[in-house]
Amino acid sequence: MVEICSKMDFEKRIKGVVISEQQIKTAIAELGQKLDTIYDGTPILLIGILNGSFVFMSDVCRSVSVPCEIAFMCAKSYYSGTVSTGKVNITMDVDRDLSKYHVVVLEDIIDTGRTLSEVVKILKSRFPKSLRVVTLLDKPSRRVVDFNADIALFTIPDTFVIGYGLDCAELYRNLPYIAEYNCEE
Ligand code: IMP
Ligand code: MG
Repeated sequence: MVEICSKMDFEKRIKGVVISEQQIKTAIAELGQKLDTIYDGTPILLIGILNGSFVFMSDVCRSVSVPCEIAFMCAKSYYSGTVSTGKVNITMDVDRDLSKYHVVVLEDIIDTGRTLSEVVKILKSRFPKSLRVVTLLDKPSRRVVDFNADIALFTIPDTFVIGYGLDCAELYRNLPYIAEYNCEE
């Protein structure tokens, strides 16, 4: 087997916990109650933006009690190291007729805002009954596009974070908490 990252290299990049497993759990339980109140029994379609939102989706879908369907869309924002290059590409699309649904978009993090502003533009052009955006993390200080989520669970400063679905070069998505990534050589 090809070793892509030694355990020591892997661990030394995890600088420290920024948001704990328990904090995430509590925030998602509150989100579930909020969504149940907003939609009040009306069925919803949760659309997760891959790859980052897969862990968030699995917890959010179990926190709501309204009837809910699940779909995914893959939007890649291109990165050079830890810096966004500004290009967004839809590599996998939603397979549902959105005009039949109240849509809730789930994203892992809003950084420059480019990815979600593009994704939301595309989804709105398909005339969903309604559309709301929920993000786990928000880095408002990094915005280059005027875009905000309807609900953001945590606002964080301008640091690169990993875990709970978020990656650096495809690693660390499996951490159960959010940690700061150590960029130092
Ligand atoms: P935006 O288009 O700049 O808002 O970037 C959104 C995407 O960039 C997210 O969906 C993440 O995949 C990625 N991203 C932005 N900031 C971070 C971070 O701190 N850690 C990991 N991924 C990030
Ligand atoms: Mg993402």
